[in-house]
Amino acid sequence: MTGREQTPPFVPRPRRAGTPIIVAVDGPAASGKSSTAHWVAQRLGFRHVDSGALYRAATALALQTLPNPGSWTEGDILDAARGVTLREADASMVPASAAGELGEIVRSPTVTQHVSRVAQMPRVREWVNELVRSAALEHSVVVDGRDIGTVVFPDADLKVFLVADPWERARRRLMQRLSRAPSDAEIAAETEHLVQRDARDATQTVQARDAVLIDTTYLTQEEQVERIVALVGVVGGG
Ligand code: CDP
Repeated sequence: MTGREQTPPFVPRPRRAGTPIIVAVDGPAASGKSSTAHWVAQRLGFRHVDSGALYRAATALALQTLPNPGSWTEGDILDAARGVTLREADASMVPASAAGELGEIVRSPTVTQHVSRVAQMPRVREWVNELVRSAALEHSVVVDGRDIGTVVFPDADLKVFLVADPWERARRRLMQRLSRAPSDAEIAAETEHLVQRDARDATQTVQARDAVLIDTTYLTQEEQVERIVALVGVVGGG
């Protein structure tokens, strides 16, 4: 355990038996939200909804038709994203366009470079929030993002805020991307990118007052998943 973690007794809010459970997982870039949320959903038979993938999908589609991101308007982005839906795949809900699942293009470096500006657009945020909320109407979900516990589901049954040391976040992201151990120079460059994106995303990356803070710097993926699964057990859904 590190000094940054809080260890309050987690007090679940009262809930109606039989209603879907909502778990919100927020945190800065590459803090392990998506993979952790996916495995928690898998373990519990819930669905994972990755809100960031929707901002990325809108950005990827805009890049296909509007090559000059500097001139993008809110209307351009909403037009480009028209028809994008969430489709069930494994334990996750993933963005799909009329042409099918968008797949790995949403993770491209060009998308990552422009997504934060797209995510600042209020009507784009409303569009994402509506899709995410509708995915939780009939199913228990684990939703990851930046503002899930504050804006999208302020009454979520469990809110978790994941943080990790930027160097460690960069190392993990590179391991995932390169499938090999990165050099210190590569980690340093990636750390710089992550810190810049954290700054661009700062307004919407907010820890809810009732969120459980988990510092994952020294935790394995399995340990993070275990902790959240145990907390869901307290809520009554484990
Ligand atoms: O996985 P990573 O943390 O790198 O990013 P992501 O979750 O895929 O989100 C991509 C981008 O979408 C972020 O950099 C934010 O700009 C935006 N985002 C947001 O504003 N609000 C959310 N709830 C989720 C993502």
